Formats: sequence, C-alpha cells, structure tokens
Amino acid sequence: MQTVRLRRPGGLDHLDIIEEAPPGAPGPGEIRVRLHASSLNFHDYLVVSGKSTIDDGRIPMSDGAGVVEAVGDGVTAFVPGDSVVSCFFPEWQDGAPLCADFSATPGDGIDGYAREAVVTPASWFTKAPRGWSHEESATLTTAGLTAWRALVVDGGIQAGNSVLVLGTGGVSIFALQLAKAMGATVVATSSSDEKLARLTELGADYVINYKTHEDWGRRVRDWTGGRGVDHVVEVGGPGTLAQSIKATRIGGHIALIGVLTGASGEVPTADLMRRQQRLQGLIVGSAQHQRDMVRALDATGLRPVIDRSFPLTDISAAFRHQESGKHFGKITLTI
Ligand SMILES: NC(=O)c1ccc[n+]([C@@H]2O[C@H](COP(=O)([O-])OP(=O)(O)OC[C@H]3O[C@@H](n4cnc5c(N)ncnc54)[C@H](OP(=O)(O)O)[C@@H]3O)[C@@H](O)[C@H]2O)c1
Repeated sequence: MQTVRLRRPGGLDHLDIIEEAPPGAPGPGEIRVRLHASSLNFHDYLVVSGKSTIDDGRIPMSDGAGVVEAVGDGVTAFVPGDSVVSCFFPEWQDGAPLCADFSATPGDGIDGYAREAVVTPASWFTKAPRGWSHEESATLTTAGLTAWRALVVDGGIQAGNSVLVLGTGGVSIFALQLAKAMGATVVATSSSDEKLARLTELGADYVINYKTHEDWGRRVRDWTGGRGVDHVVEVGGPGTLAQSIKATRIGGHIALIGVLTGASGEVPTADLMRRQQRLQGLIVGSAQHQRDMVRALDATGLRPVIDRSFPLTDISAAFRHQESGKHFGKITLTI
C-alpha cells in the first residue's frame, strides 16, 4: 500500500512516498480501515516542515477518513462498510482533557493517516456524518472539532449570540458555519478583500480586512452597538489577542486556539480583568465531543468548505498550497 514517511530533518522535500505491506486482520477490539482521505491543518504543516521534532520515518497527517473493512472480536460500535473518521486524541474518550501535548496524536507523536489502510483500536475512530464524502469527513478530526469545542462545549453558544472569527483557515470557516447553524450572528476578518466577499456569501453578517484596519477590535465592538461579541475563536495568539479582548463583551468568552502570530507575547491583562472575560485555551476535543458534533452535523445539513483536493502522491504540493496562504477553508488529500 502507498504510505508517506517523513524523513529527517523534515521539510516538504523529505516526504517519501513508498510501497509497504498492508496491515493484517484486526485483532480483538480492533478495526481495519481503508483510508480514503485526509485534510491539512496548520499543525500538520508544523510537523512536515520540520518545525517540530519528529521521529525519522513518521507517517504524517492527524486526520483520516475511510471505510471499515473488517472488525475484530468484541467490536460492537462498527460493522464493515461503515464510513468513519479518526480522533485527534485517540486516548481521550470522554470527560475532562487528558493531554497537554501531541505525544499520542496520530501524525505527530505516533504514525498518522497518510497511508491506504490502518488497523487500530475501534475507539480511535467515530462514525462519519451521513452522506458526506471522505474528503468532507476528514476535515472534522482537527478543524471541525476544534471549532465545535470552542463554540459549543466550552462556549455554550446560544441562538442570538454574536461570534468573531479570525481569518479564513480551516478552523475559522468551520466556526463561522457552526455559529450560523446555531442561530448566531458572525463577524469575520481576513487579509484579503476577495476572501471577505466569500465570507459574506457564506453568511458572515459583517466582515473586516484586518490588514487595512488595524483597529479591527474597536470596529467589531462598534458593530455590536458598543457591547462587544459573546465569543471569539482566537487563532492569532499574541498578535491578535489585544484586539480580540477589545472586541469582546464584558464577561464574554475567548477560546484561545491558535498561535499564528507567535508562541508568546504581551497580553493586556488589565483589560482582560476589567472586562471580566473568560480566556480559555483548548486543544481539539474528545471522542465523545466528536460523536456529539457528528450528530449535530447530521441534523443541520452543514457541509465543510473544501478549497482544493490533492492526491496523496502530491502531498508536498498540497502543503505548498497551504504555505502560500491562498486557501479558503480546508485543503484535503485523496488517498
Ligand atoms: N488548539 C487547537 O486545538 C487547534 C486546532 C486547529 C488549529 N489550531 C491552530 O489554529 C490556527 C489556525 O489553524 P488552521 O489549521 O485553521 O490554519 P490554516 O487553515 O492554515 O489557516 C490560516 C489562515 O489564518 C489566517 N491568519 C493568518 N494570520 C492571521 C492574523 N494575524 N489574523 C487573523 N487571521 C490570520 C489567514 O487567513 P486570511 O488569508 O483570510 O487572512 C490564513 O489563511 C493555527 O495556529 C493552528 O495551530 C489549533
């Protein structure tokens, strides 16, 4: 079977595509999945570009979607033919967060899904939404579940709430779509006027170019009549947090998800305290969160925005496309 392995020192020229023996039959409690798709995240980019320290020969990609081919003894959650999607933290099934690193995450600390087939414990996958393509389902493991947790699990979003999303990457577009599906109003930002027009088409109620309007936080607050938004899905980190705090209402919720502008920096802590906001860091979610999200997606009819799909053999080109920043929503791999 075709497999991608990342060779030290990493980098897009060190993604080797090789033929390997397929996995055997699943043992007790295991399933064998024929993988059909994966999707690219900023996290996968950090892995393959050599910016994280990874074992030589690691199979990249945290997201995997496909079809169950066989089930081992004792497996009751799936039958052969089920469409499934992988979990970002396979060991975190339910309850409070367990992990503060990526040592057990496929495509980082352990082998991921840039391959044609895999045998894993059945609990490492959940069912995919009904009628979705494998490419669509593969967008859920990381980007979809992160947006879900930010707004629904941690944010407790309600109809009539207002939401700010930053930029047009995978997590932010999902957050926009989920917020609209749940009856919220949404303000969205981008560095590109062309992408702003697409955000409006997708349902954003108000859009701002964050490059030409450095005071976007005040503009967001003005748009809410001076109150501020209820929720922010914060993907920027130190370079955007001050404006996000400005944009958020007193007592509002900021889900700190990404660090696109850097790993550390200055935060206006006095503003955060005065405005009595809740700043919550998070990494993706549990298998139970994923099952809840899939049920909600089945009910809402929401479908992810796929910018472009590449064959697995063009994985380097797919990451170069992500690196260019031209994408809007998700980039996927077809396996
Ligand atoms: N904590 C978690 O669980 C979790 C999960 C997924 C992702 N993340 C993090 O979230 C961030 C986004 O991930 P992703 O996979 O969605 O990335 P992505 O698809 O590669 O999206 C990147 C987009 O972010 C926007 N952006 C870049 N700099 C920005 C800035 N200063 N202000 C506002 N927007 C900016 C750009 O949008 P425009 O082109 O429209 O300007 C860019 O296209 C990354 O830091 C990633 O590590 C965290």
